[in-house]
Amino acid sequence: MVKHLLRSNHFTREDLDVLLTRAMAFLPVVRERRFLDLAKGKILATIFYEPSTRTRFSFESAMLRLGGQVISNPMMNETSSTAKGETLHDTAKMMDCFADIVAIRHPQAGSVLDYAQASSIPVLNAGDGSADHPTQGLLNLLTIQDKCQRLENLTILMVGDLKNGRVPHADVELLKHYPKNHFIFCTPQGLEMPAIYLQELEKAGLSYEQTQDLHASLPKADIVMQTRIQKERFENLADYEACKGIYVLDTPELDLMKKEAIIMHPLPRVDEITEAVDKDPRAVYFDQVNYGVAMRMAIVESYLGLV
Ligand code: NCD
Repeated sequence: MVKHLLRSNHFTREDLDVLLTRAMAFLPVVRERRFLDLAKGKILATIFYEPSTRTRFSFESAMLRLGGQVISNPMMNETSSTAKGETLHDTAKMMDCFADIVAIRHPQAGSVLDYAQASSIPVLNAGDGSADHPTQGLLNLLTIQDKCQRLENLTILMVGDLKNGRVPHADVELLKHYPKNHFIFCTPQGLEMPAIYLQELEKAGLSYEQTQDLHASLPKADIVMQTRIQKERFENLADYEACKGIYVLDTPELDLMKKEAIIMHPLPRVDEITEAVDKDPRAVYFDQVNYGVAMRMAIVESYLGLV
């Protein structure tokens, strides 16, 4: 049976260990801009129905560094036969003929799972609506492992739109595997972390708190995970305007943080981290992108069955 990467909650702790070890080995390849020939003769297709800067290029860069080749359509809604009414099912049947593995992003939660049902090549979820973004969650684990030298016994402060943000959902589903992690969810009212994720933490025996007070939370955090208010997921623009800009990390906020803490962000940022923060050594969000390529090398290698 073909193996797909669809949901963050499909991983076991052992799966994560294997991917993290392999991704760590690929990190020097990324940093030194080297090429391997592990995926020679294989084709990755990236089909995106939603905007992306990092995720798509990251997958493509990963495949090229593995020695494979890439075909891509970043505007499926506008320029593929989707515009003529072709279904995801039929698109999947087509991609089977063109590629060996496919990374897909789609605005509708669950759509990537539908696509995978019709696919006989491995499908990698590159983000489906506000539901999940497993490969971003995995690269976040790799970043934390390398920067903090551990994935357990951490106080993780997640800030922003935890209701609509698919990255925080993936983060909870993956970080729940590591003991003694404590979560602080700091959100504007109405954008709280959905109950299903809180229940996952309870099941895993991990503690969490919910707050609207960023300044009181910052001194406690080992990791500050800032996120963007997901404007495109709001039905009512006034609701977005009401909470945008509430939580901004700027130099006064840096003074409240632990010296050894790290600041992560999946990017893109809008106004929630000022450029003045970028030069602080605790800001790791640009380097996070390198971890993304290394992790996606490990993912493509694994789902192509090359190891
Ligand atoms: C995120 C996404 O698309 O969910 N970006 C990413 O993949 N690195 C975050 C966001 O859009 O806010």
